[in-house]
Amino acid sequence: MGGIKEVEIAGQKLVIHELEDVSDPLTGKILTGSWVWDSSLLLSEWMTSHGRVEFDFEGKTVLELGAGMGIPGMIAALLGATRVVLTDIPSLLTWLRKNVEANSLGDRVEVRELVWGSEESWLSLVGSTELDNVDLVLMSDVFYDTSEMAALGKTLGWIVKCGCGESKTTTTRIWSATEIRPWTGECLDELTDQGFDVIEFPSPLSAPNCSSSTLSSASSVALDDNEPSFAIYHLVPR
Ligand SMILES: C[S@@+](CC[C@H](N)C(=O)[O-])C[C@H]1O[C@@H](n2cnc3c(N)ncnc32)[C@H](O)[C@@H]1O
Repeated sequence: MGGIKEVEIAGQKLVIHELEDVSDPLTGKILTGSWVWDSSLLLSEWMTSHGRVEFDFEGKTVLELGAGMGIPGMIAALLGATRVVLTDIPSLLTWLRKNVEANSLGDRVEVRELVWGSEESWLSLVGSTELDNVDLVLMSDVFYDTSEMAALGKTLGWIVKCGCGESKTTTTRIWSATEIRPWTGECLDELTDQGFDVIEFPSPLSAPNCSSSTLSSASSVALDDNEPSFAIYHLVPR
């Protein structure tokens, strides 16, 4: 079960402990965040090129939602973010912590539970981290279940308002990468209904331009014959 994967994005190397098809002992559902999705490589690659031009990571606070193995958030730390909070559902946190440790990023990267739509979960995160401002939110491959989008929109709403008032110095940016599937549009429509404009980064994207090698029994990220396409979206609160 599982394996160790080495990921290289624009010269930045990460070691990832990956699980495969692991079911959540609490719900019996497959833990989709237990392996690396191509969108996370794509978002990371984009951050090291275009993202870096329009956003200075130095000294910033970054929050990743549905982080899975945590690649974009860890890349943000390597690009200069001083505080990165990787979040996901409880069953994935042990593996996320393992990945942070494997990459010696424990001084800048924290791992916390954040269940979308749960105010209790959000308040507990804010309480335990004393988070008072988020400069950048990262999300990769989280637009796949239309029934979850209202909850995701709620959490995004709380995040962008976090620190509103005197300590709020900047606007929170929200970047996401997704594989385009038949239901992606419906997911994005839900987020629009939740008060976010969805702006596609104008570049046709088909494959992550980065390398990943399997060190043991992990899955490959090679794209299949159907050539999936991907997009990067900026979500802007109205
Ligand atoms: C398809 S996986 C993508 C994982 C990772 N971002 C990547 O791109 O490799 C979706 C992620 O969203 C998380 N997720 C799904 N529903 C969630 C919820 N209600 N609250 C928090 N996280 C959730 C899953 O646990 C999983 O890590």
